[in-house]
Amino acid sequence: MIDRRALLAGTVALSASPALAGIAAKAFDPAFPKGFLWGAATSGHQIEGNNTNADSWVLENVHPSIYAQPSGDADNSFELWRADLDLVKAIGLNTYRFSLEWPRIEPVQGQFSRAMLDHYKAMIDGCRARDLIPVVTFNHYTTPIWFAAMGGWTNPQAPALFARFCETAARALAGGIGYALTLNEPNIMNILKVVLPPQAIAGQHAMLEAAARAHGTAKFAAGNAIEIDDIPTSTRLLIAGHKAARAAIKAVRPDLPVGVSLSMFDDQAVGAHSIRDRMRGELYGPWLDAVKGDDFLGVQNYERMVWDDEGRVAVPADAVRGVGGAEIYPASLGACVRYAHAATGCPIMVTENGASVDDDAIRARYIPAALHGLKTVIDEGVPVLGYVHWSLLDNFEWIFGYRVHFGLASVDRETFARTPKPSAGVYGAIARANRLPA
Ligand code: BGC
Repeated sequence: MIDRRALLAGTVALSASPALAGIAAKAFDPAFPKGFLWGAATSGHQIEGNNTNADSWVLENVHPSIYAQPSGDADNSFELWRADLDLVKAIGLNTYRFSLEWPRIEPVQGQFSRAMLDHYKAMIDGCRARDLIPVVTFNHYTTPIWFAAMGGWTNPQAPALFARFCETAARALAGGIGYALTLNEPNIMNILKVVLPPQAIAGQHAMLEAAARAHGTAKFAAGNAIEIDDIPTSTRLLIAGHKAARAAIKAVRPDLPVGVSLSMFDDQAVGAHSIRDRMRGELYGPWLDAVKGDDFLGVQNYERMVWDDEGRVAVPADAVRGVGGAEIYPASLGACVRYAHAATGCPIMVTENGASVDDDAIRARYIPAALHGLKTVIDEGVPVLGYVHWSLLDNFEWIFGYRVHFGLASVDRETFARTPKPSAGVYGAIARANRLPA
């Protein structure tokens, strides 16, 4: 947590020394750059509901499953997307990040739905009508069942199939999009391999086998659930898929900024022989090289990881924790963004950052603290296009179901009514002013 008193004390001490007066004069500037993007994010499967052609729908409903519950109606955003856009606007933001559902647009291989493309076109137009910049993720994990049943991202045809979907979607939609992301966190399996307990990995194996049996196929590989042994193959194919998709989108609209988002930590080294640098290699794999030359990199940061010479150091006993037990550590955002830019040279957009807390007061403190760190890094010269908070709504949090809450607004599970939380007011005030409170 940023301690304002410590910061102030430091500034006073610096001003007292004539040699350092120049540095002191550059005390923290709370104003963000003109045109900064202030957004909230969602993903189709997590909010739309009844996404029955998706790989995740299969995994949620197969036996055994590691999902706490099925997504079902989710937040019914397939119907209520206008209310979602109104909410983004009412909070005071200027950007909305959402995703296309490939399973809806191409429910059968090669068969594209005009009606579904029109649905997402209406959402993009709806953003523009409200002066919101649409940041569109072409694929946020979920792939069509037919794709997963072909082995998903382990099948050599995957990059071309994904690029064909992106080209079709871009022809219908690219005109109104502000920023495009090809894939969401294609390095997620590298992360899960490190953070998931062995019983969850075993449970995932049993779930994938059950899905394969149910669909009469040798291998069922989902967008965010594959066998650990398949990670090297899928990483290679996901990178090829990202590059092919970027080329396909650019061919339709060369001036549209295209990137990919990565799940990243603030990886801290402790001790003389910390394994931090080796672990960065494992967590981000070849992606840090693969994204070089992209228009921007989407950074998705929630946590820090502290590495000593043996492994991950336990979270401090007095840490504030989220519902899943993760440490709530707002300073991780700035440090993570600094590293992401240094490692790739890309301009950065924070495409996700947030806190899984039931006590919204923690979120309300978290947001300004994280933004303080982000602004510090911007002032160091790191190009940052914007900050997009995860999430606009409490939603279907994958294997945790509806138990984990990241939303700036809660959603009534019976009526689907959206209710902004106090943290939305705190965040909106910063966004409207384009500056942190003094
Ligand atoms: C994903 C989201 C997810 C969020 C919180 C990110 O890894 O992109 O889909 O809900 O983290 O866990």
